[in-house]
Amino acid sequence: MEGTASETWRLAVLTSGHSRGSNLRALHNYFSSQDKRIMIVFVTVSLPSAPVVDVCGELGLQVHHIPTRNMGSFEERVLELCRDEKIDLIVLAGFLKRLSSAFIEDVGIPILNIHPALLPKYGGKGMYGERVHKAVFAAGERESGPTVHLVNAMYDQGSILAQRKVDISGCVSPQEIAAEVLRAEHSLYGPTISAFLEKRTK
Ligand code: GAR
Repeated sequence: MEGTASETWRLAVLTSGHSRGSNLRALHNYFSSQDKRIMIVFVTVSLPSAPVVDVCGELGLQVHHIPTRNMGSFEERVLELCRDEKIDLIVLAGFLKRLSSAFIEDVGIPILNIHPALLPKYGGKGMYGERVHKAVFAAGERESGPTVHLVNAMYDQGSILAQRKVDISGCVSPQEIAAEVLRAEHSLYGPTISAFLEKRTK
């Protein structure tokens, strides 16, 4: 889908110091081939050494290093950037901190997150990345999968937009579960963002 500049949806992607950038890459690929109305305007990273920085370089994406040690300063800077760049939607990809209700209200645009489990199970503070897959494995679950949800000020509790169930009954380690779920994340996030924006007007 091609779009004129006024129809273009402008995204900011927030990542962390651990982010590999695999979701960022999948989103970039999806928007550049399947939905050209959506453009990633900038990416934030909390550590300059994060692998996602190289991914941004490779994809030609603008990257801002904004530490998250002081979340007040982080939110202030992101707010400023979102206003300057006329951002329509914030997308979290491996971003692990809680955003405050003041920020969510002030920024005034939706914020989406992808979580590597079937929420409401295996969510909440401290439940991210491989910790999720270890807990899923320890519980002997036969299925897992990613959830895309709206972000509110409580960890992993915003409205669920989409989930993709993955059969993990053959997985013999948390790492195998992680790989299966990550594959599903990559095919779920882009189309879910696209469908979410389809229902909105600028
Ligand atoms: C993804 O698996 C994502 O679901 C997870 O971080 C990983 C980032 O990977 N997010 C959370 O756990 C949030 N609670 P990536 O940098 O390769 O996209």
